[in-house]
Amino acid sequence: MCGIVGYAGAGEAGPLLLEGLGRLAYRGYDSAGVAVCGDDGRLSVIRAAGRLDRLREKTQDGAALHGSCGIGHTRWATHGAPDERNAHPHASPDGLTAIVHNGIIGNHLLLRSRLEAMGYVFRSETDTEAAALLLHACWLACGESDPRRRALAALRGMAAQLTGSYAICALFAGQPDAVYAVRRGSPLVIGCCDGGYMLASDVPALLGRAHHAVHLHDGEYACVSAEAVELYDADGCRISRESEALDIAPEAADKGGYAHYMLKEIVEQPQALRRTIGAYTGEAGGSLRADLQAAGLGRERLAAVRHVLLFGCGSAYHAGVAGRYAMERLARIPCRAELASELRSRELLLDQAGTLAVAVSQSGETADTLAALRLCRAHGVPVLAVVNAAHSTMAREADGVLLTRAGPEIAVATTKAYTAQAAVLDLLAIALAAARGCIGVREEASLLGALHALPDAVGDLLGVRDSIRRIAEGMAGAHSAFFIGRGIDHAAAMEGSLKLKEVSYIHAEAYPAGELKHGAISLIEPGVPVIGICTQTDTAARMQTAMAEAGSRGACLVHISSGECAVPGAQEIRLPQAHPLIAPVLAAVPLQLLAYEIGCLRGLDVDQPRNLAKSVTVE
Ligand code: M6R
Repeated sequence: MCGIVGYAGAGEAGPLLLEGLGRLAYRGYDSAGVAVCGDDGRLSVIRAAGRLDRLREKTQDGAALHGSCGIGHTRWATHGAPDERNAHPHASPDGLTAIVHNGIIGNHLLLRSRLEAMGYVFRSETDTEAAALLLHACWLACGESDPRRRALAALRGMAAQLTGSYAICALFAGQPDAVYAVRRGSPLVIGCCDGGYMLASDVPALLGRAHHAVHLHDGEYACVSAEAVELYDADGCRISRESEALDIAPEAADKGGYAHYMLKEIVEQPQALRRTIGAYTGEAGGSLRADLQAAGLGRERLAAVRHVLLFGCGSAYHAGVAGRYAMERLARIPCRAELASELRSRELLLDQAGTLAVAVSQSGETADTLAALRLCRAHGVPVLAVVNAAHSTMAREADGVLLTRAGPEIAVATTKAYTAQAAVLDLLAIALAAARGCIGVREEASLLGALHALPDAVGDLLGVRDSIRRIAEGMAGAHSAFFIGRGIDHAAAMEGSLKLKEVSYIHAEAYPAGELKHGAISLIEPGVPVIGICTQTDTAARMQTAMAEAGSRGACLVHISSGECAVPGAQEIRLPQAHPLIAPVLAAVPLQLLAYEIGCLRGLDVDQPRNLAKSVTVE
């Protein structure tokens, strides 16, 4: 999705902005642009549709722009085509103000007609231009003589009239030493670098440049110059906030010799899981115990939970579905897994006292999940956030946080964050089961022992890549594929299907295996791939039947299973022997590799699939 960078410092802004935009490219974008305020106080804006290379060419890698303050943007089109006219920055016609914006201005049509009535002429179809021209109008209307105070007042005047979500960075002509920022609903972080400051919508844009960061909170403003960051609250009162050390090594965000981030992140899963599982297990009385105190979930608190509501979008939802099965099975607790994007269209019917709501999200910024989190809290239901981004909005707004420690995930298709989420939800299921007396100390230790075996098992499983590549060669020309599984394996089927769609553009559907014969089986014809996932012994026989039904209609069968029983005619991928709790997490690995290999065979950009964004910050 859109990305913002900004710079105020002693160096030349142009090259640094281009560098930062390059680090945000993983979020997905279709045009980009930069604006710099020159030493003469004039604003220069350069924009280009398409890949960043176009902008690099037009700006000579940023060197064509002179000035030490600037803003940059990668745009993922929502309002208006992905062309140069609609690319950010958007400047006022007289070149007095320019802004970049992430999010969506809810009342842009109303603002547009008001501004048109004032004589403004719009040059783009974007919602952002309404904010840009409104800022200009507020600047002109402001009686302040001090330029910084006037800029801040104009920004506040603009923000007071905007609805929706936004992170905005602004430049003002005549102020070659300051970048201004305001946010509500979309993230913005200020990185402290040697010789200045960088602003960004996402921490990876700062890696390698910033050593500390200050996170801007909802409703706050900032004036950033080479010397200082001034923060203001929504009422314009000066506030202060300590910067936090950025503990992510810059190498964590590069490809590390792999052809793609997606492959690197698949391979990183053993370490990601080891860190995550290790963070929430401890020893007591010589036994392994689940320890969720970090999220305020002591045993007494967990024992009071009567009902769990898990929600997320995309893969995070799939992790929630898998978690639901674990919680029902181990903790014998009623549990719902919901799509966060649908939650607001339902009657919530939550029992305030007994419900534990759990928001699952890699980025911690997904607009739909954030809205669902806020909805639950507004209903008086405390929310636990299972997030990978420690400084995200969800981490800040939730009542408790369980961090997945997967490290920065750059590929749009999630892999290591998904398996880390599934592991954390397993830990939560074990902790709930222990607190509710469903399992004793010995069984808790044995389940945790099984979970601790997961990273090594994933490491072993990465060796299936060659077999997967052969299967991928047979599937790369398919137009459609089905992923089927029963019970908890349906979660893995949904995840496998989504991965394939995202990175290979092959139409794929996930079905609970028993449902296929109720309609979708009419789509099975010779050669259609049907990938069956079977990690549970109690469903093995029925899975064999479902696979046989598809096979007898000519489907090309792939069977990913933990058991010994093979499916006649299927290409078999055997998962390492594992506890039934962790086997579904293992099943994700060959499915990720399958999607990856097929995407590569089809010559696609697996790290940045078309139309997709890493973090979906619009509803
Ligand atoms: O950052 P989040 O985990 O909240 O993102 C949720 C989904 O957008 C995300 O899982 C998406 O489905 C992935 N691209 C799947 O690979």
